[in-house]
Amino acid sequence: MSASDQNALKRLAAIYAVQFIKPGMTVGLGTGSTAVHAVHEIARLHTAGQLPNIQAFATSSEIARIAASVGLPLINAEGPQTIDVTIDGADEVDPQLNLIKGGGGALLHEKIVAQATQREIIVVDASKMSSCLGTLHQLPVEVIPFGRGGQRTFLETLGGKPILRVGAGGIPFVTDEGNYIYDCAFGPIRDVEELAAELRSRSGIVENGLFLGMTHDLIIGTVNGIRHLQRNPITGGITEISVEV
Ligand code: A5P
Repeated sequence: MSASDQNALKRLAAIYAVQFIKPGMTVGLGTGSTAVHAVHEIARLHTAGQLPNIQAFATSSEIARIAASVGLPLINAEGPQTIDVTIDGADEVDPQLNLIKGGGGALLHEKIVAQATQREIIVVDASKMSSCLGTLHQLPVEVIPFGRGGQRTFLETLGGKPILRVGAGGIPFVTDEGNYIYDCAFGPIRDVEELAAELRSRSGIVENGLFLGMTHDLIIGTVNGIRHLQRNPITGGITEISVEV
């Protein structure tokens, strides 16, 4: 599939998701090439008067800049107490709607926003679907600069192959919080809860890209149209609801 065809599927999913945003809502804006389509659609509806009184909270400085440029009212870094709906992307999605995120480097802010969100809607094209996380994408792990060499060794002991993410000009990529990212190839991760717990317990690791049990809705853009999966937050059960083609 060409990049432009894939982008069309990302846009399809993002535009579909925007219908769940209503006037007066507080909205989380995800980061990445899929979520940005939602930002433009929300701004279009807001400008047309169809989404009055919304407030937006951006998951990265990059998306805040884009949202401001299209006239969306933004909440400052303190953030809202709760967010009604967030629309965000993902790098890999498993059948339980668990995710790997952070390909764009915004995993820490994205997880903070997801945890404050009542309805987390993930938008992807079909290439992101996977039977086991870690198969398609490396796991981003955000570390503070101090002592990062030791984190590399720690990540290796967990079975990962950490590579320090490098940005433009060959210098280390720095997150919005001034941290570094190790992209860790793990291969298929058989026990995501166990790995997440190990990573959470380590001082100096501020966040990892495993988003477990946080997705309420998954919208998949496919060549046959939209698939919309919903996860019951109590039981974890997944249902496929109205598919619009
Ligand atoms: C940003 O840090 C990421 O979590 C993105 O949401 C993820 O990488 C998906 O990006 P694309 O929509 O560009 O594939």
